[in-house]
Amino acid sequence: MSLKFKDLLGLEHLDKNDLQTILDSVKIFKGLFKKSNKTSTLRGKTVVTLFYEPSTRTRTSFEIAAKRLSADVVNIAVSGSSIIKGESLIDTGKTLEAMGADYIVIRHMLAGTPDMLARNLNISIINAGDGFHEHPTQGLLDLYTIYERKKRIEGLRVLLIGDILHSRVARSNIWALTKMGAEVLVLGPSTLIPASIEDLGVKVYHNLDEAIKKVDVLNILRVQFERQQENLFPSIREYISLYQLTKERLAMAKSGVLIMHPGPMNRGIEVTSEVVDAPNAAISEQIVNGVAVRMAVFCLLEHVV
Ligand code: CP
Repeated sequence: MSLKFKDLLGLEHLDKNDLQTILDSVKIFKGLFKKSNKTSTLRGKTVVTLFYEPSTRTRTSFEIAAKRLSADVVNIAVSGSSIIKGESLIDTGKTLEAMGADYIVIRHMLAGTPDMLARNLNISIINAGDGFHEHPTQGLLDLYTIYERKKRIEGLRVLLIGDILHSRVARSNIWALTKMGAEVLVLGPSTLIPASIEDLGVKVYHNLDEAIKKVDVLNILRVQFERQQENLFPSIREYISLYQLTKERLAMAKSGVLIMHPGPMNRGIEVTSEVVDAPNAAISEQIVNGVAVRMAVFCLLEHVV
């Protein structure tokens, strides 16, 4: 099994077969990960992580995944690197390539940055989140978590709740889920819903009490206060009253509805602690699946060097 491309920049350009190949492979890697097994698949390979934005889950998960595959891992702290002296991203990438890096895992605040690096280097580039654009491994781990719990994707209704405007996770979820035959609904304050989102094949809802009754999966997104240049909703109190996922709202949902959140969470804002700890919440499982997804991605990308 392999994908016919060297980089993972987003899920927009993957087809259903590519996504199914990844899902099948994640199952195998999850089995290895759960047994604490290490494989020698990437022995002699070097993975460099280059994060221009903060991360707990994604960076650590990539590092653990690479180490489980026996790769060498180098984490670059942007604040202590020559990037601060004005070195261009492409020069940084070429320097890492010359030193023998086989993969660069990059998170950047500007959409398209991983793509620019991929076009200028021969090694594999993996997008760990670029601006508002995509977060493909998060989209894949969300897809796998739904597939594992619900045993299918086709025909499911998935509701993405909250700050869709600033969410690269929402975009990667939308690409993956619609290609696999799910129906995607998005819901949030109208100021946090992009104007042309319906062009991506999703339906827009504004009333959570109405939408929650219709769906099989609830994927709650974080309010990204740090990306908002202005107040995009009148008050946190109003956001909570209209969009917070509470125990009372959950009681209106279908039994067995799957609850997900990519993290980090604002407990008490987009979701209550009671909901996070509900039996049908898969938030911890998403973290486990994240390692397996990243192991699969490292192994499935085509190597040209
Ligand atoms: N879900 C996610 O991307 O989390 P981090 O920002 O901690 O990597």
